[in-house]
Amino acid sequence: MTALVEVENLVKHYPIRSGIVFKHDVGAVKAVDGISFELAAGETFAIVGESGCGKSTTARCVLRLIEPTSGTVRFDGEDITAAGTARLRELRREMQMIFQDPFASLNPRMTVRGILREPFRIHGLEEDGKVEDLLEMVGLLPEHASRYPHEFSGGQRQRVGIARAIALNPKLIVCDEPVSALDVSIRAQVLNLLEDLQKQLGLTYLFIAHDLSVVRHIANRVAVMYLGTMVETAATDDLFERPSHPYTQALISAVPVPDPNRERSRRRILVSGDVPSPVNPPSGCRFRTRCPKFANELSEAERQRCVDEPPALVDRGEGHPTACHYSEARTLV
Ligand SMILES: Nc1ncnc2c1ncn2[C@@H]1O[C@H](COP(=O)(O)OP(=O)(O)OP(=O)(O)O)[C@@H](O)[C@H]1O
Ligand code: SF4
Ligand SMILES: [Mg+2]
Repeated sequence: MTALVEVENLVKHYPIRSGIVFKHDVGAVKAVDGISFELAAGETFAIVGESGCGKSTTARCVLRLIEPTSGTVRFDGEDITAAGTARLRELRREMQMIFQDPFASLNPRMTVRGILREPFRIHGLEEDGKVEDLLEMVGLLPEHASRYPHEFSGGQRQRVGIARAIALNPKLIVCDEPVSALDVSIRAQVLNLLEDLQKQLGLTYLFIAHDLSVVRHIANRVAVMYLGTMVETAATDDLFERPSHPYTQALISAVPVPDPNRERSRRRILVSGDVPSPVNPPSGCRFRTRCPKFANELSEAERQRCVDEPPALVDRGEGHPTACHYSEARTLV
């Protein structure tokens, strides 16, 4: 596998500052706390997890839109955490982002032509006629170029966002919940468009979602995040067929299946309680305060290990890495 992106031990802590005159750090939001992963050229790698688990922070660190606290991000073999401003500007041509809310990410006072010309202008490149080509590539019409973002539907606006992201022929696109704000009925169309463009342009996607069902058909591999850490990574089919971390099992048991009979007879694995604060995460395994296995299946001695020892993300015999001392593949779908 040729890695386009290699992330090693990425940490992002947001300091919490206090004091009126003399500001000082009183703690930190441990948004991302030591994650490692690779993206192969041409693949779609999805990161899935509940709100606040650190998905967008990870995405922004990968593109270096924010500075990581520590760790390295390599893009095409180059350590971009060490890149200077000029180099970073060049690299930005190769790495683009598609946002959840296309309305917020598009300048309302610019026409679509203006929006799509902007990346060329920023990088001092000739645009000559590419706006119409880009519109066609994303399934819009040449006459849409003179319209403003508010004149489009949500799905069309996301197509404009996608056109802007592919304008400079990037290698990597980070898609941060690109369909979450869209009507369920048009999600599939936008996902299909992303897939077609990937094939046509050889794109690599880092795809972020809080719902496993969204990534099932688009992702080659999936990483499940919980409270700033990765708890399981696997090829998508493997993750759905043999989920091994109790959190992944709970997420998969909540994904609806189309067959109503199977849906009725399926066992739900429920996770109780709220996500603990990332300022002061639980010791040992961060999932232990909500883990159904910890609560219902383990002996006192086994539980103690969950309290004391953070589980590493390693393959414990399930064929893919899981961060659970007692991981065990279960078939749920
Ligand atoms: N600029 C910031 N300053 C302080 N804390 C932040 C900042 N940005 C994010 N956080 C906190 O970091 C944690 C991770 O946030 P992040 O946005 O990465 O999560 P997410 O998984 O993308 O969530 P969502 O699904 O809601 O988009 C959250 O607790 C969030 O409140
Ligand atoms: S290590 Fe313990 S608490 Fe953590 S997921 Fe596994 S069983 Fe649950
Ligand atoms: Mg987010």
